[in-house]
Amino acid sequence: MTKERVCVIGSGNWGSAVGKIIAENVLKHSEIFEAEVRQWVFEEDFKGEKLTDVINRERENPKYLPGIKFTSNIRAVPDLVDASRDASVLVFVLPHQFVRGVCEKMKGAIAPNAKAISLIKGLEIKPEGVTLFSEEISRKLGINVAALSGANIADEVALERFCETTIGSRSEEDGELFFKLFNTNYFHVNVIRDYVGVELCGALKNVVAVGAGISDGLGYGSNTKAAIIRLGLMEMRKFGQTFFGSVEDTTFFESCGVADLITTCSGGRNRKVAEAFAKTGKPIDVLEKQMLNGQKLQGTLTAQEVHQFLSARKLTNEFPLFETVYRIIYENAPLESIVRDI
Ligand code: NAD
Ligand code: 13P
Repeated sequence: MTKERVCVIGSGNWGSAVGKIIAENVLKHSEIFEAEVRQWVFEEDFKGEKLTDVINRERENPKYLPGIKFTSNIRAVPDLVDASRDASVLVFVLPHQFVRGVCEKMKGAIAPNAKAISLIKGLEIKPEGVTLFSEEISRKLGINVAALSGANIADEVALERFCETTIGSRSEEDGELFFKLFNTNYFHVNVIRDYVGVELCGALKNVVAVGAGISDGLGYGSNTKAAIIRLGLMEMRKFGQTFFGSVEDTTFFESCGVADLITTCSGGRNRKVAEAFAKTGKPIDVLEKQMLNGQKLQGTLTAQEVHQFLSARKLTNEFPLFETVYRIIYENAPLESIVRDI
C-alpha cells in the first residue's frame, strides 16, 4: 500500500501546534503515513536568519510557538510547490486572509488522490455569497476537504493540556484517516458529518469574541459577557440556518460550538486585542502589531466581511450583535452599544 504523504500549509501559532501533533502521530501510525511531514512556512527573517533555517536547526518555531520542540521528522519548506509536491494529505492552517492564491500554486504539484482538511477559522465572503474555505479549496483543487475546529488555544494544546476538537467530514473514510492524524490522549477528536456547521462555528465565534473583549474593556463583568456569548451563539445558529440550511443544532454542542465560544471569549487573541481597543482607543491594526508579534486577528476582519454580506441583502438588523461589533470597530460607534444595541 502506498503510504500517505502529509503536507501542512501554514506555520503560525496554531499551524506550529498542530504540526507538532501531526509529526508525532505519523510516527505512531507508520503503517499509514510516511514519516516525513513537510510544512510550508511563509519565509521571513528571524534575528538575521531565515525562519525556515532556524526551525529546521532548532526543531522549534521561535517566532510563533517559542519553547515547544518538534520531533525531527517535520521539515520547514519555504517554497509552496516543493512543500506540497506529491502530498496526498493536505492540512490547511493559515490565517484566512492569506489563503487566496495558495491553491493555484499547489494545483499541479499534489498527488492525484489527495484529500485535505481545513483548520482555517474564517469565511470566504464575496458579494455573491458566503463560501466555506473547505468548499473553496475543494473547488479549486478538485478534492474532498474536511474541516477541523474546536476549543483549541494553540499555546495550551502545544503544552499538551487536555482539550477536545471536532472534525466535520462528508467522507467516512477521510474522517477515519484524519482521526488518526490528529487524535492524541490530550487532544480528543470527535468526527461528525456536519462539516458546514464545524466551519461556520469556527469563523463566527471570532466576531463574538471581539464583542466579549469590548465588554471586558469596559469592565462589565461576567454576567454581561455570558449574555454576549449566548446572544452570539443564537446569531451563529441563525446565520447557519439562514444561509446554509444544512447546519445541525447538535453541532453547537460539540467542541467547535459552545466550547470554542467559551475559550475564545476568555483566553483568545480576539478577546484580548478587543479589550485593549476598548481601553486605549488605539486602532486595531496597531494593537495587532504591538500585541501579537506577527500573529493575526480573524474576528475583526470576519465582522467586516459578514457586515458586507448582510448589508448587500439588507439583513444587518437581523444580526444585531455581529452588526454592533462591526460598527464599533469600523464606524466609531460608541463602545457602550455592545450592550445597548444587541
Ligand atoms: P497566526 O495568527 O500565528 O498567523 C501568523 C502566520 O501568518 C505565520 O505563519 C505567518 O508566516 C503567516 N503569514 C504572514 N503573512 C503572510 C502572507 N502574506 N501569506 C501567507 N502567510 C502569511 O496563525 P495561526 O494561529 O496558525 O492561525 C491559522 C488559523 O488557525 C486561523 O484561521 C486561526 O483562526 C486558526 N486557529 C488559531 C488558533 C490559535 O490559538 N492560534 C487555534 C485554533 C484555530
Ligand atoms: P483567537 O484567534 O481569538 O486566539 O482564538 C483561538 C481559537 O480559535 C481557539 O479555539
